[in-house]
Amino acid sequence: MKKIKIGIAGTRGLSTLMGLKAIEDVEITAMCDLDETHLNEAADKIGVSNRYRVFDDMLESDVDAVIIATPMQCHVPQAIAALEAGKHVMSEVTAGVSMDELFWLCECVEKYGKIYMYAENYIYTPEVQLVKSMVRAGLFGEPYYAEGMYMHNIGSILTYPNGKRSWRSYWQCGKRGNFYPTHSIGPVMQWFPGDRITEISTFSPGVWNDVGLKQDSGTTTMCRTEKGKLLNIRTDCMSAHPHNMDFYHLQGTLGCYRSKTHGSDFHRVSFIGEDSPIHAMQWKKLEDFEDYLPDRFKYATEEQKHAGHGGGDFFIVEDFINAVRDNKQPDLDVYTACEWTAVGLLSALSVTNNAKHIEIPHFRKNMPLEEKIVKL
Ligand SMILES: NC(=O)c1ccc[n+]([C@@H]2O[C@H](COP(=O)([O-])OP(=O)(O)OC[C@H]3O[C@@H](n4cnc5c(N)ncnc54)[C@H](O)[C@@H]3O)[C@@H](O)[C@H]2O)c1
Repeated sequence: MKKIKIGIAGTRGLSTLMGLKAIEDVEITAMCDLDETHLNEAADKIGVSNRYRVFDDMLESDVDAVIIATPMQCHVPQAIAALEAGKHVMSEVTAGVSMDELFWLCECVEKYGKIYMYAENYIYTPEVQLVKSMVRAGLFGEPYYAEGMYMHNIGSILTYPNGKRSWRSYWQCGKRGNFYPTHSIGPVMQWFPGDRITEISTFSPGVWNDVGLKQDSGTTTMCRTEKGKLLNIRTDCMSAHPHNMDFYHLQGTLGCYRSKTHGSDFHRVSFIGEDSPIHAMQWKKLEDFEDYLPDRFKYATEEQKHAGHGGGDFFIVEDFINAVRDNKQPDLDVYTACEWTAVGLLSALSVTNNAKHIEIPHFRKNMPLEEKIVKL
């Protein structure tokens, strides 16, 4: 089988290393980073000699696919350039930084027929996958409400070690609203199969942290889905709170799940049952239901589990390579990427207009031009 040649842009892309190395017939042949020191450090680590500071130069090489792990504002311009050059794309989160970009990205994936995969690794953690299987098996009854919370004080990465401002101070914390929502939306949407977010409203307590940037001291975005379900998505990168980037809660008609919040805590579930009527429900450990875990997570090797984000950084690469091999768009396709990213982009409009209710466009193949707008 012909080897799939991969080019990586941005050092965060090295998180895919273990996954790529474990898969046969894949080789990393090029590395790109604007910063020469980062470039050489990363390329030495991977052992590649094709090194590029300019992304478009890497596209002139014979790579079949690129992993885009540069800052958020580079994702769409680089993805479009890659698709135009006939390369498959795996893009870091979020998909883009403006609504116009998202519409353009969808058009290019359709036009050039290459694979686009959204690298939302948080959906690949064993707990999220286990709850997904339990939802499918009907243990929670009909899910109707979920919460996803991303608490990550990023004060220390708003500047680089050399004292210069990092891209995060403008493209993330220079923005109002829920600028980084997909680590929360992605996992909870796994539990609402066949549904999509159709409308949002974003609330904020205002700015209470003396960082000198525009970002709110946390925002809460209420999302309504097409099937009438409700999601509560909180992102807070400002407040005084220990890191808790993957808190989730699911409520169904027969039971619920709450993820752990700190080291000694545990993931828990509770169900109505003969021995536990609704007024006397008890918590059980999620790990007691591990039989429901899909095989590839159940039998993951220690190495896979340690790939980062609970093994997520391994399995996401496997799905990307399979999509490229089968020439079939993955579940985390461009439309999913745009829907989840749009929640964040439009939350800024909502929060600056007194939590105004905003519709999320229905991103899909051949979406008509008259729908490529923000409806006010
Ligand atoms: N999925 C996750 O869990 C996760 C975690 C961290 C970061 N991220 C995402 O990864 C991306 C990178 O984040 P980071 O924390 O590594 O940022 P960073 O600032 O630490 O690193 C970005 C790198 O990209 C390089 N770069 C900047 N512009 C470039 C360009 N035009 N062409 C080539 N290289 C360029 C920089 O020199 C730098 O080495 C972001 O999109 C971020 O949202 C995702």
